[in-house]
Amino acid sequence: MKTAPLEGIKVIDWTQVQSGPSCTQLLAWLGADVIKIERPGTGDPTRTQMLDIPDLDGLYFLQLNSNKRSIELDAKTPEGKEILKKLLQDADIFVENLHPGAADKLGFSWEEVHKLNPRLIYGTIKGFNPESPYANVKAFEPVAQCAGGAAATTGWWEGEHNIPTQSGAALGDSNTGMHLVIGLLAALMQREKTGEGCFVYQSMQEAVLNLCRVKLRDQLILEHTGEIKHFPGYPEYKVGDTVPRYGNAEGGQVLGWCYKCKGWETDSNAYVYIVLQNEDKAFDKACEGMGITKWINDPKFNTPAARNLVKQEIYAEIEKYTITKDKYEVVSELSKFGVPCGPVLSIAEIEKDESLHKCGTLVKVPQPKRGEYLTIGCPQKFSNFTPEIKSAPLLGEHTDEILKEIGYSDDEIKEFREKHVVCK
Ligand SMILES: CC(C)(COP(=O)(O)OP(=O)(O)OC[C@H]1O[C@@H](n2cnc3c(N)ncnc32)[C@H](O)[C@@H]1OP(=O)(O)O)[C@@H](O)C(=O)NCCC(=O)NCCS
Repeated sequence: MKTAPLEGIKVIDWTQVQSGPSCTQLLAWLGADVIKIERPGTGDPTRTQMLDIPDLDGLYFLQLNSNKRSIELDAKTPEGKEILKKLLQDADIFVENLHPGAADKLGFSWEEVHKLNPRLIYGTIKGFNPESPYANVKAFEPVAQCAGGAAATTGWWEGEHNIPTQSGAALGDSNTGMHLVIGLLAALMQREKTGEGCFVYQSMQEAVLNLCRVKLRDQLILEHTGEIKHFPGYPEYKVGDTVPRYGNAEGGQVLGWCYKCKGWETDSNAYVYIVLQNEDKAFDKACEGMGITKWINDPKFNTPAARNLVKQEIYAEIEKYTITKDKYEVVSELSKFGVPCGPVLSIAEIEKDESLHKCGTLVKVPQPKRGEYLTIGCPQKFSNFTPEIKSAPLLGEHTDEILKEIGYSDDEIKEFREKHVVCK
């Protein structure tokens, strides 16, 4: 069977920037018909942000809106509201990520929309949950990383770099979008049984926090025992009353660290990550691979508990090995000894990674006006279906087509246009 999993599912996508669009883009890749509602004349703000080619849709927009259709619609006009209602009556899923209260104010709260179409599933993204003191605060990526525990636990635990640090990965935005996808798909399954749609509320803070649950684990360990033995500064550094930042530690109870490789002085990504597993056999093999066989019979190093007391000494010794080779050599050598390891890949290296192109994760997409652009396609691989990554829509590209689908005539569309309900 080659049918796309979400074929036949219609999504009304009133989202913008990254969190919401990442959610609806994935639904589109999985086969849903995603109709993006955009403000007439301007559209999603990312269309005009960080432009690499003047007057063309920006790469930020293209990376997050492929496989969608676009309708320009002023949802503040009475006619615009009517059009949106018609679209919702005929849809399965509605997703919005406007600022708190904006959709409600325009008459598109969950309660109103549920009355309009009881089968419709309503997904919303906000910075914070409704119980939060910040429920009405607008949020962007770093706000969520800071409020969700990521920034407080990322970076170095001492010295001048001991400052809250956000991840380069979009934990606040795309991660929230992916969380909402899970909720929406579950709601679709639920609707199969109940016949009724539900409201799925996903806050950005909670999407980040969900990925920081191991940090809460460590907080509780600290409160119960007064220390965190797997923290990389243990035992020398005295932890206060909260989980410190762990630098590049693995985060569990095995010794993992990021090591300099040949060329690190000029290449900021000439690093490799190596994990030393706890089991004797795996540890002995790693020692062999790195040529540090003296540790195998030395009680200072040959048990996990002993190693935990001399972590920094171990890291320094391993780096004497890695610094003599490039990161690919290290991985090639150590993988033969069964050591979990990987090179630190720059984005420039990832862009050229043939394996990622071959499996369809990095894809070139044809785009009207611009020509081809490179994007990251669907990260999941299915045995019976391959998502086809198509271009992102031009602003209002499908306005007429969509209006006709819900029954409007050419004359009515002309009138909407004259009144700037759809576009100038
Ligand atoms: C992202 C965010 C901070 C931007 O806030 P913003 O600059 O106020 O932009 P919004 O689009 O939400 O709202 C601006 C206005 O445009 C209006 N608008 C949006 N689409 C419209 C349309 N198609 N037709 C008419 N009006 C529209 C909104 O109703 C709002 O009007 P109001 O200010 O009178 O209430 C905010 O939307 C937010 O906090 N969203 C939830 C969290 C989130 O997803 N953030 C991450 C984004 S990556």
